[in-house]
Formats: sequence, C-alpha cells, structure tokens
Amino acid sequence: KTQIVSVDNLSAKEQSYTQAVDLLEAGETVAFPTETVYGLGAVATNEVAVRKIFEAKGRPQDNPLIVHIGEKNDLDSFTMNIPELAKECMDAFWPGALTLILPLKPNTLAVNVTAGLNTVGVRMPEHPVALELLRRLKRPVAAPSANRSGKPSPTQAVHVLHDLDGKIPLIVDGGATGIGLESTVLDVSTDIPTILRPGGVTREMLEKVIGPVNETKLTDQVEAPRAPGMKYAHYAPDAPVYLIEAYIEEVQKAVKSIHNDNKKVALIASDSYSECPADYFFTLGKENQLEDAAHLLYEALRKCDESDADLVLVPAFPKQGVGNAIMNRLEKAAKGNWFNLD
Ligand code: TXA
Ligand code: MG
Repeated sequence: KTQIVSVDNLSAKEQSYTQAVDLLEAGETVAFPTETVYGLGAVATNEVAVRKIFEAKGRPQDNPLIVHIGEKNDLDSFTMNIPELAKECMDAFWPGALTLILPLKPNTLAVNVTAGLNTVGVRMPEHPVALELLRRLKRPVAAPSANRSGKPSPTQAVHVLHDLDGKIPLIVDGGATGIGLESTVLDVSTDIPTILRPGGVTREMLEKVIGPVNETKLTDQVEAPRAPGMKYAHYAPDAPVYLIEAYIEEVQKAVKSIHNDNKKVALIASDSYSECPADYFFTLGKENQLEDAAHLLYEALRKCDESDADLVLVPAFPKQGVGNAIMNRLEKAAKGNWFNLD
C-alpha cells in the first residue's frame, strides 16, 4: 500500500524526509513535489531502482528520464564538457523549470536513466521540498512525472495516489505544485539551442539571456523525434479532446451541435466561458491569465475522467509566453484535432 506523508509541521517534516531518504537509499521509488509537477524519483545510479519507475508508470523503456540535483557540484559526477551556454542557463534559471540536455560521462548513471543515449537531461528544481530531499540524499535522482504513462502529469499528491496507488511505497505531500506544467527541455548541443519541450521557462525568457533559440514543431516531433518522449500519446483524458477557436459564439454553437447528437460535453476554459451550457465546466481561472491556466490545466483534464462527458472542448490559447507550453500539451491531448462544426 502507498503511504502519503506530509512535511507541513516540524516533527512530521523530519520523519517524512528521513523516511523518503531511507527508501531511496534502499533502492525504492518515492514521489515528491517540484515547482512544475510531482516527480517519481529513484537514485539515478541504481539500475534496479530506476527500473521500478518504468514499471510503476508503465513507461516505454526508450523514453529517458530527467535527473534532478540539489547542488550544481552534483553535475561533476555524471556529466562532462558542459557548453558555456549551458552554464549561462544554469546561472540564470537554476533552481528552476529548465532541463538541460548535457553530455553524459560514460559509465556513471544507470543505463536505463538515459535509455542508452550519450546525453542526459538535468535540472535543479526550485521547490523547497524537492531541494531539501535532494540535499539530504546527496545523490542524483532520476524522476519523470509521477503519473501513469499517457495521463496528465500530477499537480497534487492525490493525483499521484490515483495513478500509482499500491505501485510505489511513498508520496511526500507538499501541496499543489506552482507552475503546473513540466519543465522546459533545452538541447544546448546545437549552434542555436533548441527547445525540445516548451515549459515553465519560456522561449522569451531564454532569449533574453542566451539570444536566439529554436523550437521543434509538433509535426517534426512525430516524424523525427529528437526527444524520445515526443512520439508518445500524452496528457489524454479517456474522452476525445478537441481544440476550438477562442470565441464564445463558436463554443456555444459547438455545445449545441454536440447536444443535438445526444452527447455530453466537458468544457475546459477560463471563467469567461462559464455561462456556456456545457454539461461540465472545469475552470482554467481568470481570462488572459496564462499562469493560472497552466496551474489548473492538468487538474481539469483529470476531472474529465471523473465525469461521463463523451468529449472535451478546449478554447485555444495564444502561443506566447507559457501559452506556448499550454498549447503544446493541448495539441498532444487533442492529438491535433480541432472541433469541426460541419
Ligand atoms: O518538470 C519536469 O520536468 C518533471 C519534474 C518531475 O521534474 N519531470 C518530467 O519528466 O516531466 P518526464 O520524464 O515526464 O519528461 C522528460 C522529458 C521527456 O520528453 C524525455 O524524452 C526528455 O525529457 N528527455 C530526457 N532525457 C533526454 C535526453 N537525453 N535527450 C532528449 N530528451 C530527453
Ligand atoms: Mg511525463
């Protein structure tokens, strides 16, 4: 059975961290909060422990994991030849929601962490609980998002429990995560760095520090995935998801036509759409507040699975700032489908 422990008072805190560190040292997995989403961690040098992550998640073996560190010095043990540009990124954005793809020092991490690649994705999370855990453990921790593979990433401890109950020994509960979308994955091995996955640290933020940055398009990702994770279905509720133009009239017409087909619809949108006569409304917060929408998106997608909606409608977001990451997740959840009125 999976245990949930809190860190919100002094005595609980000591015991929770000790328990988490002991389990990790013993080669077990532990779920913990980060500022992006909850991660499912294991010591990154322990191949058997890392295998347990793949098994609990039902994750394909060829999709490498992100390694989390508590101090920059921790990098020395498993990376080498770190490009100057990567160092600038670390200085500007660590701790934070930026994963850097760095050259792997051979024979250091368990091979299943990197799926046999000669690079490794690394980040230093900004969440106090994640940092405390990593600094006590003093080892690199491989941690993908703590969801069943294909489902939205968990932004609350109960989401982790829902997906992984009985499959992992411990969840450290640190409340709801802040950003709500996964970290930005940046490949710094190319002349112009490339965003492999948009996230909490936006292209605009990166370009201010390191100049021009490229971004892989979703279509390239399906044909020639540079991040192995790109080719898999993601973030999908059970009911099909459709994007729709962000106009009230459009959404109202769509709801009407869905009802004409005797189907139920869940609407995931900002509060300005709350009057639309959808069967279920899951809020993404105030209008034009992209940070709120990012924070609430995965919870809303999960709520669809608790409803009996036959399909899910989501008005599109502008692809600016964190809106770019939101649309990336939504395009994947919708498998590229837009609602068609005729
Ligand atoms: O915010 C986050 O990044 C969360 C929290 C827990 O830190 N973690 C997370 O991990 O989202 P995961 O495993 O769900 O996503 C890792 C992504 C995948 O798209 C994977 O393909 C990519 O990073 N990745 C990992 N190592 C890579 C590498 N060496 N080269 C290219 N892509 C890599
Ligand atoms: Mg994930």
